[in-house]
Amino acid sequence: MSKERFHLSIHKIDYEGHRLFTPEILIFSTPTEADQYAAAFVMEQIDRKPNSVLTLPTGPTPQKMYEMLVQIHKKQALDMSHISVFNLDEYWPIRRDHPSSYTRYMQDRFISHINIHPSNWHIPDGEASDPYEEAIRYEKRMKQSPPVDLAVVGIGPGTTCHIGFNEKGSPLDSRVRYVSLDEETLRTNRTFFDKPEEIPHGAITQGVATILDARKIILIAKGKRKAWGVHRAFTGPIGPAAPASFLRLHQQVTVVLDQDAGKLLSV
Ligand code: PGA
Repeated sequence: MSKERFHLSIHKIDYEGHRLFTPEILIFSTPTEADQYAAAFVMEQIDRKPNSVLTLPTGPTPQKMYEMLVQIHKKQALDMSHISVFNLDEYWPIRRDHPSSYTRYMQDRFISHINIHPSNWHIPDGEASDPYEEAIRYEKRMKQSPPVDLAVVGIGPGTTCHIGFNEKGSPLDSRVRYVSLDEETLRTNRTFFDKPEEIPHGAITQGVATILDARKIILIAKGKRKAWGVHRAFTGPIGPAAPASFLRLHQQVTVVLDQDAGKLLSV
């Protein structure tokens, strides 16, 4: 496995009184190596602490990571019976069994293949009648749980720079809430729907502050369509104009990239 460590040396000044930290940025030669690293990272967390609380993402990026974790679970019997999972987000409104819902994604790719206790998997309910009340319920559920040990997140494509569905304008203190999706997010994500017109225009997402509450965070990004966002988030000014930039206020962030996603950092 070959990887290079990228050291950031700029923007070390405080953001509105919050201390800034330097994330560990790892650039792997291939997307598969990045996936393997991410899967091993999650596995080590569960090995070290079997009752880990995890925040997990959806979308194309973590797909291979889930495949690898399922394989590890089956081969080496990585016991996941004590973990708890809080998903980052879910569209609203959407049927839970819609082929493009995040509930379905998680069931099909991960949850139904491992031995997590069903009552320990949480995801916002896309079928809730009131998304604002559902956000309050989800936030409460997270607060009742022990703190998240590890949050696995992606970054939005193009210039969205979102984490979860915290679109541009999301403040540092945002918690679980209903949000309207950005035009650019809608343009990209509608391609994941068989009938693009079925994409919901809203979502329930963990907020920036919710994500930063996790003890550790790993961000995975692969491919050219993430290069701008990664560069903006980790070298540009911190603030709601690029919500992923708030990750630099967290002490333990690992950024796992392939060459394409990291290409603007290396030049
Ligand atoms: P992706 O998305 O995994 O679909 O690339 C990540 C995101 O939009 O946050």
